[in-house]
Amino acid sequence: MYNFRKVTDDLFWVGANDHRLALFENIHPLYHGVSYNAYVLLDEKTVLFDTADWAVGRQFIENIQAVLAGRPLDYLVINHVEPDHAASIEEILLRWPKVKIITSPKAVILLHQFGFPIEAEQVEEVREGDTKCFGKHTIAFVSAPMVHWPEAMVSFDTTNGVLFSADAFGSFRALDGKLFADEFDFDGEWLDDARRYYTNIVGKYGPQVQALLNKAANIVGLDNIKYLCPLHGPVWRKDLGYIIDKYVHWATYEPEEKGVMIVYASMYGNTETAAEVLASKLADRGVTNTRLYDVSSTHVSYLISDLFKYSHLVLASVTYNLGIFPPMHNFLADMKALNLQKRTVALVENGSWAPRSGALMREELEKLKHMDILDDGVTMASSLQEQNLPDMDALADAIAASVLK
Ligand code: FEO
Repeated sequence: MYNFRKVTDDLFWVGANDHRLALFENIHPLYHGVSYNAYVLLDEKTVLFDTADWAVGRQFIENIQAVLAGRPLDYLVINHVEPDHAASIEEILLRWPKVKIITSPKAVILLHQFGFPIEAEQVEEVREGDTKCFGKHTIAFVSAPMVHWPEAMVSFDTTNGVLFSADAFGSFRALDGKLFADEFDFDGEWLDDARRYYTNIVGKYGPQVQALLNKAANIVGLDNIKYLCPLHGPVWRKDLGYIIDKYVHWATYEPEEKGVMIVYASMYGNTETAAEVLASKLADRGVTNTRLYDVSSTHVSYLISDLFKYSHLVLASVTYNLGIFPPMHNFLADMKALNLQKRTVALVENGSWAPRSGALMREELEKLKHMDILDDGVTMASSLQEQNLPDMDALADAIAASVLK
């Protein structure tokens, strides 16, 4: 049973949704599924842009067959070789053995490493700025290394302004019948999933995403882009400036909002209480754009996502085995792995007989770039004792002054 949608008069979405996958890349929880997008262009030649994860392979093939309606498939453009998009290549080769593959030289190497049976004469390698005409439509190819793998490229239809943007501008969440971002309440319903996708999958590669955005501006011209067709999530045909602005913030590690994210590690509830007391004191001072998270019960992908959103972070942690509580340590390691920078941070430590977590968290934060660690901090000798409250007031004063300035 096929299920495709029209993007333009001669371009069709032939992807599929996956609601069964629990963990994207076997790490990141999915509660609303994910889509694997691919597109077919019906010109004098027929062109498929990317394939799909094998989990949705049957649906994907039926969609292509329905759109082709008996025509042969002449070309397969491979923008990205990661298996969530490339796994169905072999099925395409089996069904349309005469198809020509257009991709980057690095992708050819990776395709062989993944074991795809591709003959040299079947491949047209394209480099930065190369173009290919398929009839009415001329496609330009632009390399996009490390967005999010080294072989990645994007393809721009110079005829109608469609940018096949690979992982860029992608999002978690299944499309479920809709396709275009303007068919959703994107800001209300989707933005958090788009940010969580970007920050956890591509977040490390901000400089490379900036390079791609600069190329899009200088080579293609942002005004010439009329459609963004990513490999996951909705297609953009309206208000492209909205999502491009989000990408500029994320790629440059600039926060979207002034606000405070308080992440606590608490074994028996005392550090949790301290985090709540701090949040109350911030509210007393007029800082209400705050979020409170238990690091033990919040998947780190959500913490990373909100960290890219908010300007300020408070880490409140018990001392555990004379070190940092392991889930908090994992969060700090993920911040480093994803190149997080440019945040103002305050620390609260707890340790009844050996409070060490504050100094150790500071050491980890000092490995990140452009972090402003507030000198004011709070050490809790046991539970929230009366003598610690003045420290908490001073900390709230310092955070509020920084947020409200
Ligand atoms: Fe959705 Fe890097 O693949």
